[in-house]
Amino acid sequence: SKVVKGEEPFDAAAVLTALQALHANAEKVDVDALFPAGSDTGGDTTASPKIWEDMAGFKATNAKYVADVKAAAAAAPADVDALKAQFGAIGSDCGTCHQTYRVKKG
Ligand code: HEC
Repeated sequence: SKVVKGEEPFDAAAVLTALQALHANAEKVDVDALFPAGSDTGGDTTASPKIWEDMAGFKATNAKYVADVKAAAAAAPADVDALKAQFGAIGSDCGTCHQTYRVKKG
């Protein structure tokens, strides 16, 4: 994010390492284990009830994020413009899922 905003210089190796870590972490997200049936009530959470109402949609949204982050790591962006293209897809995946499946705490 800082590289895309111009707050840090572009370093292809560092960017690739960060994208690979993001991808590895994304692959670890096991929706069934993290959002089991019955865990939709209580607790300190901003997870929306919509996750359990539309589990297939939530999984598809997560799968798109994992695919985009995998593609970004595989593309190994060579300059900041290439990174921006990859980062745009990833960032919009974060926002799309949060808008639909996360509630704001008041
Ligand atoms: C498939 C859906 C999905 C995607 C994609 C997603 N998130 Fe989230 N995110 C959630 C949900 C649901 C929560 C709320 C979890 C809870 O409170 O139990 C959350 C919570 C968070 C939190 C707060 C964590 C905390 O401790 O309260 C941060 C920060 C966050 N997401 C960042 C991101 C970023 C950055 C991305 C993209 C790189 C991203 N998320 C992609 C669903 C998603």
